[in-house]
Amino acid sequence: MTDKRTVFVKTYGCQMNVYDSDRMTDALVPAGYVPTDSLETADLVLLNTCHIREKAAEKVYSELGRIRLIKEARAREGREMTVGVAGCVAQAEGREIAARAPVVDLVVGPQTYHRLPEFLDRARKGERVVETELATEEKFEHLPAPSRERTLARGVTAFLTVQEGCDKFCSFCVVPYTRGTEISRPVARVVQEAERLASAGVREVTLLGQNVNAYHGEGPDGASWNLARLVARLAEIPGLDRLRYTTSHPRDMDDDLIAAHRDLPQLMPYLHLPVQSGSDRILAAMNRRHTAAGYLRLIERIRAARPDIALSGDFIVGFPGETDADFEETLTLVREVGYLSAFTFKYSPRPGTPAAGRDGQVPEAVKTERLDRLQALVNEQTRAFNARTVGLTIPVLIEKPGRRPGQLSGRSPWLQAVHIDGDPARIGEIADITITAVGTNSLAGRFASGAPSRTGIAS
Ligand code: 5AD
Ligand code: SF4
Repeated sequence: MTDKRTVFVKTYGCQMNVYDSDRMTDALVPAGYVPTDSLETADLVLLNTCHIREKAAEKVYSELGRIRLIKEARAREGREMTVGVAGCVAQAEGREIAARAPVVDLVVGPQTYHRLPEFLDRARKGERVVETELATEEKFEHLPAPSRERTLARGVTAFLTVQEGCDKFCSFCVVPYTRGTEISRPVARVVQEAERLASAGVREVTLLGQNVNAYHGEGPDGASWNLARLVARLAEIPGLDRLRYTTSHPRDMDDDLIAAHRDLPQLMPYLHLPVQSGSDRILAAMNRRHTAAGYLRLIERIRAARPDIALSGDFIVGFPGETDADFEETLTLVREVGYLSAFTFKYSPRPGTPAAGRDGQVPEAVKTERLDRLQALVNEQTRAFNARTVGLTIPVLIEKPGRRPGQLSGRSPWLQAVHIDGDPARIGEIADITITAVGTNSLAGRFASGAPSRTGIAS
């Protein structure tokens, strides 16, 4: 007889939640939990939630409705199931969740996950636990490292949170309230975690932060290190051949970081740099604290440093007060930049944020129309970018088996998915691949015989 309990974690939202979900599992394994892929049979179900837009938050309540039925059916069989809500909805709504969804035993905010085993003991004794304290620098610093097997089972690419929270207070955004003020992990902790990942076979690490380029962690010399310095240190780790970071704010894109894109071959030529709108009036109302022209100048400097860099962005359409003319300026900016990809969203008023109560809320039909037009433009740019890669031979990190038998799936330096026929033994390799065709969301290629192309795909 074993007293191991199974845990199922469902992740919503951003990459930081993906990272947090893995760390929650890491915190629970020493307490006797085993990860499972089956919600139906799990002893513990954790929903790691997202509060960024209304739709994301509502999904949690519909999932809790479904879980209630499963929990009730299991109770009839005399088996218990513990249900926890974690993440940003937990942080933002706390006790409201417990009140609205009686199925929930436990509500835990993103800064308290290291204490999960203790909360679960309390929940299993019948207490309804709600823990949403903000800003602990402790969070993941005392977790035992996951095993090499568990790390590799997660793949040859990994996320690593280096910074959390945001001090920017864009007027649409809940993050400063759900994730708290900016906290950077000390350099030594980040290096230790990156070394562990590399020694387990991870080849590519994406550094995460809500505002990652504002990173200012304490260095081993006691000084504050910026992201460029941290990246340069991580580039020294043998085996870590690819580094990325996300998400960045234009205001924090400093000279050192731009230079790092020129100087560090490990730093991949891809940058997610949200601008949200191309209208100065809307940018001001969003409290972005930069102009469209300022953003374009920045892009120019980044491209001068790394001509083949691929850019991606986030855009909100239908922000309060956005006119047709403002929206046209967004389209103009997108045309001027030429993105590889962009995430486009309809403005969603979030309770507690300054913009939510403003006059000039834009009708849903107008938002839909603008979103469609913007998305069509972005899709055109994605297709054009992808088409320019056909015929090139580029280094691709082979990540996992593809959908078809005999197929492998990897990523280009520009983060495009690439499908190749080949032997699964090649997973983990960075191989020279000649791109032969473009699909809707991916590229097709074959293992190259010759040397890689020397030219990038600078536009
Ligand atoms: N409505 C719509 N989109 C939003 N985002 C953040 N808050 C909102 C909101 N209230 C988008 C922004 C941000 C991305 C993570 O989500 O574009 O960059
Ligand atoms: Fe969602 Fe934003 Fe929280 Fe990430 S930080 S989980 S995107 S609300």
